Amino acid sequence: MLTDVDVPALLPVYATFPLRAASGHGSWLVDEQGNEWLDAYGGHAVATCGHSHPDVVEAISRQAAKLLFYSTAVPHPAREQLAEELASRAPDPLSRVFFCNSGAEANENLLGLARRRTGRTTIVTMLGGWHGRTAATLACTDGARYEAGAQRAGVPLSRRVPFNDVAAMRAAVDETVAAVLLEPVQGFSGARVATREFLEAVRSRCDEVGAVLLYDEVQCGSGRLGTFTAAEMMGVVPDALSMAKGLASGLPIGAVIAAGSLVDDLAIGDLGSTFGGGPVPCAAALANLAVMDRENLLANARTVGEFLTSGATALPAVNRVHGMGCLLGLELDRPAADVQRALWAHRILTGTSTDPRTLRLLPPLSFSIAECELLLAGLGRVLT
Ligand SMILES: Cc1ncc(COP(=O)(O)O)c(C=O)c1O
Repeated sequence: MLTDVDVPALLPVYATFPLRAASGHGSWLVDEQGNEWLDAYGGHAVATCGHSHPDVVEAISRQAAKLLFYSTAVPHPAREQLAEELASRAPDPLSRVFFCNSGAEANENLLGLARRRTGRTTIVTMLGGWHGRTAATLACTDGARYEAGAQRAGVPLSRRVPFNDVAAMRAAVDETVAAVLLEPVQGFSGARVATREFLEAVRSRCDEVGAVLLYDEVQCGSGRLGTFTAAEMMGVVPDALSMAKGLASGLPIGAVIAAGSLVDDLAIGDLGSTFGGGPVPCAAALANLAVMDRENLLANARTVGEFLTSGATALPAVNRVHGMGCLLGLELDRPAADVQRALWAHRILTGTSTDPRTLRLLPPLSFSIAECELLLAGLGRVLT
């Protein structure tokens, strides 16, 4: 089988699953031989309402036929409606929206807004945090390879603190700090959850020293935890958050959702993006949100999370299950990469994480109980 690394024209930078995708539907990916693979990786946390949901596909085709693209030089109803939807779904006081095209770009804008508001440069981030591959977000991402990338670009690294360590956080966040940037549930780290106590302490420390609190909800937002924002699930609201990945269930989009106090003095030209807020991704996101409502996907994400957590906890090789909803990390008694590979033989796709023993599950929010049972049965077979 041909993979990316066998195609000289492609840079060999991605590890690939052992199939070539032909199509997808719901929680299933179909390979070129017609075999169906159960996708508990959710296209990398993107397929919120499943692969190629007919409503999303129809909204894309309808919008593409009417007007494929015009930049933000022209107002467009899909952009306006989506901004209003996001503002109404985010907790108060998050009510102002800026669109871009990816998670890293949304985070880059979060950092820029915080530095602009405070006139400070230092950012505090968490060990285990992952925020993207632009120069500024690399500087905030934990890991030697990312830090080296930021250093090559001449961007100063963020100040790092251990996740959920209140004392270390309080010591690091002082009057020189522009922002604290964190994932309420760290995705790549293996679905590690921030404690309520920690988030409340970060919130009050930021308020004390005049720093901005930023949530990276690129992976844990867009309903994945079982509430539309992770902020709502955690009960502690930041000054701004980013979303991307699952927001349009398959088209590239990024969004910043901010409190008015952070952005109310922005003027024309302060932020911008040619493709951000384009009619087609906005139409796709609106259709995705409508499907989330109609198919009760937030409630389903919670049900799936509880079902998989209790099923996986009962497996002898699973020491602990981290995360919630459709973002779970199974801490195993063996290397997760071996288990991921063994599941391929059962045509089941899962993710690994930066913790070598944590297997990551990112199924579509529309995953069914029958699909949970198939996944647990596959895990049971390989974890003997
Ligand atoms: C938490 C988090 N932030 C940011 C990003 C970067 O998003 P993108 O790849 O869309 O730039 C990712 C991607 O995996 C992510 O998981």
